[in-house]
Amino acid sequence: MGYQSISVEKMTGSLGAEIKGVDLSRPLSNSAAADIRQALVDHLVIFFRDQKLTPEQHLEFSLLFGPLQRVPYVRPMEGYPDIIAVLKEADEKKISTFGNAWHSDFSFLDEPPMASLLYGIEIPGHGGDTLWINMYEAYEALSDGMKRMLRGLRAMHNGRPYGMGGVPKDLRTSRSIGIERNNPDADREIAHPVVRLHPESGRKALFVNSIYTGRFEDMSEAESRPLLDYLYQHCLRPEFSCRFRWQPGSLAVWDNRCTMHYAVNDYDGSRRLLHRTQVQGEKPVLAD
Ligand code: SIN
Repeated sequence: MGYQSISVEKMTGSLGAEIKGVDLSRPLSNSAAADIRQALVDHLVIFFRDQKLTPEQHLEFSLLFGPLQRVPYVRPMEGYPDIIAVLKEADEKKISTFGNAWHSDFSFLDEPPMASLLYGIEIPGHGGDTLWINMYEAYEALSDGMKRMLRGLRAMHNGRPYGMGGVPKDLRTSRSIGIERNNPDADREIAHPVVRLHPESGRKALFVNSIYTGRFEDMSEAESRPLLDYLYQHCLRPEFSCRFRWQPGSLAVWDNRCTMHYAVNDYDGSRRLLHRTQVQGEKPVLAD
């Protein structure tokens, strides 16, 4: 993994790397652009610190990875249809927050986003970290028998937390993120391979997550539950993970095709604001 124009420091043995020596507010050389794209394939989630990005510069840098993708349900930022403001106000306590369970972004779409870019603006003095899991390693650590059984399977994903009447009435969610429920175009189940082939690395990754995957195709939720629960618990080995401490000016870019992430909700009393963009993904391909 030789890079010409950037310096790359691995964060853990499994995934995550900090990229140094680039100012993302300025145009990138062809060599730095190619290095950054390669670093994402190599490390699955990459981090930049001390960046000063306007929303326009955030959008411009996102385009390095592909066309932008708008997502259903979540109301975008005023004046910026391609940016979501991930916000929890200081007075919003004991509520459920955006991204506060393991997931791959909007995996219930026919073509889920291939990458997401999250830029820190206001960060609590402590807490509010984000964690990621390496879903290649989670797959590779399964027994041969389990891999054989999973390979041909598809699982059904849905946007139930946002629509399909799935949100419990007494669940207190942040009022700072505008959710537009009941979107007939998005309120449906989509089948995706349980083991997907990554188009760039050629590696196989487990592709189920606890927010959006409800069941295996042609099976009931009750029948699917024990194996899905086993897989979720298996994925959460600390050896497959990395954890990022945000600062204002930090930017994380992750590959939704081979990772899951989790936003830790442990900062009641502090305001947390980040801006997120998504990059258009492709239809997940079944690994043979
Ligand atoms: C998300 O994109 O799921 C939110 C992550 C975060 O707020 O840390």
